[in-house]
Amino acid sequence: MTEAIPASAEGIARAAAMLCDGRLVAFGTETVYGLGADATRASSVARVFDAKGRPHFNPLICHYPDAVRAFVHVVANETAHRLAEAFWPGPLTLVLPRRVTCPVALLAGAGLDTLAVRVPQGDTVQALLTACGRPIAAPSANRSGQVSPTTADHVMEGLAGRIDAILDSGPCRVGVESTVLDLTGPRPFLLRPGGVTREAIEALIGPIGAGLSLAQAEASRGLRSPGLLVSHYAPGLPVRLHVTEVAADEALLAFGPPLPGGCAMFQLSLAGDPVEAASRLFEGLRRLDGPPSKGIAVMPIPASGLGAAINDRLQRAAAPRGSSEPA
Ligand code: TXA
Ligand code: MG
Repeated sequence: MTEAIPASAEGIARAAAMLCDGRLVAFGTETVYGLGADATRASSVARVFDAKGRPHFNPLICHYPDAVRAFVHVVANETAHRLAEAFWPGPLTLVLPRRVTCPVALLAGAGLDTLAVRVPQGDTVQALLTACGRPIAAPSANRSGQVSPTTADHVMEGLAGRIDAILDSGPCRVGVESTVLDLTGPRPFLLRPGGVTREAIEALIGPIGAGLSLAQAEASRGLRSPGLLVSHYAPGLPVRLHVTEVAADEALLAFGPPLPGGCAMFQLSLAGDPVEAASRLFEGLRRLDGPPSKGIAVMPIPASGLGAAINDRLQRAAAPRGSSEPA
């Protein structure tokens, strides 16, 4: 059952309590409705991918009530401060380096060392984020491949029964998603045009790179910074998939009852639940990536549901190194 919650003071408090409790609550922003989850809880973030049927672990935007709280989790340069001053709250998302202390679940950022942060505008969303007191990860609240929703009814049509609640703040004012600007490269780069125009941004900070598709943009960012050739996290150790036996010097990434052997083990989901496994995937790859193991052996994971996304990421992690294909 998906509960429709009115945007009254009690409704906002209830929606915030549900989010803090790990549940999925869609909410209106000035751009489109987002499907919110506590960004610090990997299990809730995994449920977002599952509810949307998102085929890949695309990184999610983290929402904050103000710039001060956003910049506690990322390293903001002078350009970021100027943009925040001019456009926040508003439809601009900034991609910045994650701080080591950032508590956002690795899955929310798809294992990247960057994080997309945004301060949305609107009384209801502002009150909600303030009441939550933690970052809220939220992609657009539609089934994967469908158009973004701009009313609570749209969200209900796509996600009824798959999420816990919708906080109804009426139709969205802007109606297209936020502009996504990458500030981690040598110069600002427009990854997605959106609610704040390129002209408005350039009037403030000068020329920015743009004009490429997101995939091309990711590739070009990779070329400028070779460490980012594969944009999603790839471990340093070689990765072997679909294993049925584990060598003594390998670390095992287990799914279900673990195979014997190996020198280390991380359990993705003893019960064989792909949602739980997704929430632990990036954590597991990181934990196992180092001595004494010489490689990471991964047990087979069924390809259904979130298993497709898990297998997609594992295949990238296992791909020959130096591949120039953007992830
Ligand atoms: O207006 C919006 O931005 C809405 C509302 C709900 O805030 N959200 C939204 O989220 O459109 P989503 O997940 O549908 O789109 C997020 C975009 C994706 O293209 C994703 O790849 C990109 O932002 N993105 C997120 N984190 C990123 C990162 N660390 N680096 C590069 N791109 C990132
Ligand atoms: Mg979307």
